[in-house]
Amino acid sequence: MSDLILYTKQDGVGIITVNNPPVNALSPGVPEGIAAGVEQFVADEEVQAIILIGGGRTFIAGADIKEFGKITSGKKRESSLLPLMLAMEDSPKPLVVAIHGTAFGGGLEVAMGAHYRVASPTAQVGQPEVKLGIIPGAAGTQRLPRLAGVAIATKMCAFGEPVKAKEALSAGIVDQIIEGDLLAGAIAFALDSAKKVVHSKPRERNDKLGSPETNAPIFAEARAAAKKTHRNQNAPLAAIDAVELATTLPFEEGCRREREIFEQCLFDTQSKSMIHAFFGEREVAKIPGISKETPVREIKRAAVIGAGTMGGGIAMNFANAGIPVILKESSADALARGVATIEKNYSNSVAKGRFSAEVMAQRMALIKPQLNYDGFDQVDIITEAVFEGMALKKEIFSVIDDLAKPGCILASNTSTLSIDEIASNTARPQDVIGTHYFSPANVMRLLEIVRGRATGDDVIASSMALAKKLNKVGVLVGNCRGFVGNRMIHCYGREAQFLVEEGAPPRKVDAVLYNWGMAMGPLSMSDLAGLDVGWRIRKEFKHLEKPGVRVALVADELCEMGRFGQKTKAGWYKYDENRKQTPDPVVDEAILRLASAAGIKRREISDQEILERTVYALVNEGARILEEGIALRPVDIDVIYLTGYGFPTYRGGPMFYADTVGLSEVCKKVCEFEAAHGELWEPAPLLKKLAEEGKTFGQWAKERA
Ligand code: 3HC
Repeated sequence: MSDLILYTKQDGVGIITVNNPPVNALSPGVPEGIAAGVEQFVADEEVQAIILIGGGRTFIAGADIKEFGKITSGKKRESSLLPLMLAMEDSPKPLVVAIHGTAFGGGLEVAMGAHYRVASPTAQVGQPEVKLGIIPGAAGTQRLPRLAGVAIATKMCAFGEPVKAKEALSAGIVDQIIEGDLLAGAIAFALDSAKKVVHSKPRERNDKLGSPETNAPIFAEARAAAKKTHRNQNAPLAAIDAVELATTLPFEEGCRREREIFEQCLFDTQSKSMIHAFFGEREVAKIPGISKETPVREIKRAAVIGAGTMGGGIAMNFANAGIPVILKESSADALARGVATIEKNYSNSVAKGRFSAEVMAQRMALIKPQLNYDGFDQVDIITEAVFEGMALKKEIFSVIDDLAKPGCILASNTSTLSIDEIASNTARPQDVIGTHYFSPANVMRLLEIVRGRATGDDVIASSMALAKKLNKVGVLVGNCRGFVGNRMIHCYGREAQFLVEEGAPPRKVDAVLYNWGMAMGPLSMSDLAGLDVGWRIRKEFKHLEKPGVRVALVADELCEMGRFGQKTKAGWYKYDENRKQTPDPVVDEAILRLASAAGIKRREISDQEILERTVYALVNEGARILEEGIALRPVDIDVIYLTGYGFPTYRGGPMFYADTVGLSEVCKKVCEFEAAHGELWEPAPLLKKLAEEGKTFGQWAKERA
């Protein structure tokens, strides 16, 4: 037998232990090994009961997701877990599954194929398949409603959120919680079960399946919620359909239909994109040339300079992670405003029940607001988060270079400026790094970590580790204007503005991208972020503008009019007290005036053009960024967009999306735009090359790895 499964006996109980680290996924050999164990222990006269348990940190966390890619690319035939589960359920000896860690997806499905389930108090169970764009494919949608009832099963299968052991016990998914040693408790439970004559089979329980009258509102509500919270996604609705089938079809027929729906989802681009996103988030943590053994500096104390929107949010991140943080401002008013905003944000979370008032008090106590640099010589990281202006940043870095203790990380939250230039004003450029947070900094998961020319490997490794500690996804990028995310968003926003100048109403531009799946349209996003931010940056870089190359006109004009976006209740739209947005004729007038003065011909613009000009602008710039080595891999760009810019997960990120469209098609369009709109659309050489070779960004990355 393979090492994937261990077989032992204790006190007359046969124990099958899954040994497939790190998460005991159901990789090839695991289901077969479990089946062999069941067969062996059923035949063994010394054995009265059988236990299935996970070795290491968890029970089975699901099917092996890597196998899905092999199936959809035709390299491997699909194999079903159903025969294993039938064999388990049909065992004449009681079969007990002992759960610790996470019994997710296929893991929970296997567990539900047993007669009984016991769990440690910290265990979690769930059907998270929808997060990968698929539905449970091994009878999860058929057995879960039989164990937990239709309402709970629908919620778990459609939204994918895990359920903790206690909740699983009250729902009937597990039969007992074992305090203390899980295996010892499971053995006692199994020996007790062996005294029973009949062991109920989950597939034969029909008492919780409800009636058409009771079920109809459950499914209707779930469908309405899924359409709202999982906009445009197929899997949640498909999962609800599959659970509904459990209530109308016999078990075997329900399983057959579930499998068909599972396969449809698996071969869908949405699922491929979401699986790409799942592995992508893990891949970005792996940095070529920086090994896992690189020493990491411990961050026990922090300081943040600037208590504005970003600085306050950054300080909250440290406090949320239990790290004491000094929050420094230069004026008492600004400091008071910053602290009040933090208090308001925390109070909102308490009101929404996210955490208690006591937790809020603990976090507030970790934030030390002050107007001077006292204590800066004690901290392990200083994060500068003042306005985007090189002169100011350089001045601050010179001050903190004098104050900080040796080994302190000096980080800038700049969103566009050169880390090398900032570092040049210190005597320790090896300790200087960019940590670019995204607004709202306490909410958005992305942290762009900007490596300067001299940044030390240990400072990079420490910043990546810090990202994890702050519950962020850290992505390492190179130093250039705007780094990865903002350099690309500049092109996207530029095209959105050009489209408006050429005749597309702002609302239409936003609606096309929102309906396509972006969290919000580009112009609404600028209003939220603050139009003055880009305005200030454009002023900083004005000298770099190439004469004769078209520049966007409207956003700067709006800023001149004092319309900075939501914060001034006016930007591309006007906003009421509740931040409700309406179009503003003043903006329409400004657009017409500027377009006419610049001689821009106005015309009807299609939804398709809006989509292609904005999204392909991202892709073309992304290709340049890859060529220049500013992003390590296409997937790094994708993860930046998925976690920092509201790009829909089910499209996989801009580079993956381009791969799904086909790079020759994308390149063809880019060339058409170049012919119509000029040099800003010159195709990136890498895009052109891959299009000609019929390759994808993904293939290119693999060949280089
Ligand atoms: N298949 C293959 N690899 C997996 C995996 C899976 N199901 N789950 C995790 N991994 C890998 C990760 O890629 C990572 O690999 P790396 O070290 O090379 O980067 C490693 O295991 C550790 O994973 P995490 O870094 O995510 O570890 P955490 O401890 O933070 O989280 C977890 C553990 C909660 C289990 C999390 O990994 C997770 O949510 N995994 C996915 C679970 C899931 O979606 N299961 C359903 C699969 S689909 C299915 O079962 C279909 C069925 O219905 C037929």
